[in-house]
Amino acid sequence: MEKIKADLTLSIRARYPLLYLLTWEEDRAERIVEEISQGVGKELIFWTRTRGFQPAPKDETNPLKPEDALKSIGKSGKKAIYILRDFHPFLEDHDVVRHLRDLVSQLKRSYKTVILVSPVLKIPPELEKDVTVFDLPLPDTRELGQVLKNLLEPYRNSDKVNVDLSAELNEKVVQATTGLTRNEAENVYAKALINNRNFSEEDLPLIIEEKKQLIRKSGILDFIGLSTQMGVVGGLEKLKHWLRQRARAFSNKARQYGLPEPKGVLMVGVQGCGKSLAAKAIATEWNLPLLRMDVGKIFDSFIGHSEDNMRKALAQAEAMSPTCLWLDEIEKGFSGTQGSGQGDSGVTARVFGTFLTWMQEKTKPVFVIATANNIEALPPELLRKGRFDEIFFVDLPQHGERMEIFRIHIALKKRKPEQYDLNALADAAEQFSGAEIQEAVVSAMYMAFAENREFTTEDIIKAVKETVPLAVTAQERIADLREWARQRARPSS
Ligand SMILES: Nc1ncnc2c1ncn2[C@@H]1O[C@H](COP(=O)(O)OP(=O)(O)OP(=O)(O)O)[C@@H](O)[C@H]1O
Ligand SMILES: [Mg+2]
Repeated sequence: MEKIKADLTLSIRARYPLLYLLTWEEDRAERIVEEISQGVGKELIFWTRTRGFQPAPKDETNPLKPEDALKSIGKSGKKAIYILRDFHPFLEDHDVVRHLRDLVSQLKRSYKTVILVSPVLKIPPELEKDVTVFDLPLPDTRELGQVLKNLLEPYRNSDKVNVDLSAELNEKVVQATTGLTRNEAENVYAKALINNRNFSEEDLPLIIEEKKQLIRKSGILDFIGLSTQMGVVGGLEKLKHWLRQRARAFSNKARQYGLPEPKGVLMVGVQGCGKSLAAKAIATEWNLPLLRMDVGKIFDSFIGHSEDNMRKALAQAEAMSPTCLWLDEIEKGFSGTQGSGQGDSGVTARVFGTFLTWMQEKTKPVFVIATANNIEALPPELLRKGRFDEIFFVDLPQHGERMEIFRIHIALKKRKPEQYDLNALADAAEQFSGAEIQEAVVSAMYMAFAENREFTTEDIIKAVKETVPLAVTAQERIADLREWARQRARPSS
């Protein structure tokens, strides 16, 4: 927040004529510009299509047409910042664009700045060189803390509401609302306050639930709490070791030590062998919130402009950092990026480009976890060095790993694994994936349940024998995958 203010102030002082402020929070953006205008001693003037300039000009009619408004700005001798509200639709009009270009050259020699505030980035190519774009980040914890304080302050003299939260509670409440806009956070605080007439630890689940809903509703991210423990992931020892080594990598201590923040990991591998499971467990292991990006939904026209969806999701992830951002089955969303003739006029490629650039340049601790099982569809740029810290190949489980996966799934069914012959089970389930092992356990349970008895090792072996694992039918594909991985990825076990 302080940074964006400083950047904007500098541009205004340096007489950049035309600024484009990208944000979903018009009010907040205007409030920031207002503070800046006071700091640099300039008048702040708004313009809308319906009401013209505000404050209205004294000695002339108030222009409602965009061209007239631009002409009027050009003529004015004021020292002023003009915010043009909802101006982006007019940028499709060639006359308006021409007027804006004329105005730009005039403004360079004046003390006037024009700012367009818009939720979408849409700049006609003729203007690209003249516009400076700023992305207004979502509020940080400091700003959210201020929002909370402002909300509580009016209750200072009431004895019902505790206005001075403990530092610890304050931090938790504020942290629970990162990723939301200022208004959203304010509403969430107000709701919690009405609910309990006070803030306490008990409000946190409610606040987090509220945030989940808001984030899901607003786009392509799903906020998944901490649920899956690494203990339910069998095998994958090398991957787990790598992760354990980086468990404290987001701490201040690691920064002081001189370590860079981990960027991300890509897990490629055979279906049903625990990639998605491991992704969820990483966040729990590191105690970071997990955000899942629905790559398919990015291109859903009902949700909005694809590039804006992507930008918004990345902004939310950054606001919630340190966090894990999980892109499951990444190849499904980004497969159209290489070939032409996809009929989406390069949208997929642009959205993918936005993502890659962000990965390369991100400064906030957002750990990217990507999973894929079809390497042919993976855009090669994604695999280039430096994007991910490591690419792991997740293969079918070995004998020992199968024993462990059987043990985990039997235990998850609240049975004692010692009462089963894990060695025999692992022998029988040669070439089985973790998902198939889990299914075999469930089938055995059905068999035994129908006969009103406990399920046994023999039941599971029977279920295993009745299954043809995918690895048998998809032998060639798996062989290709292994060959590919041998050169490019690290084995995960
Ligand atoms: N290594 C494992 N340890 C324990 N359970 C496993 C393991 N691998 C798979 N499973 C079981 O199979 C289910 C499906 O696995 P998961 O969704 O993680 O596979 P995946 O690798 O993501 O597959 P896909 O490529 O199809 O997305 C898991 O929810 C879990 O119950
Ligand atoms: Mg998966």
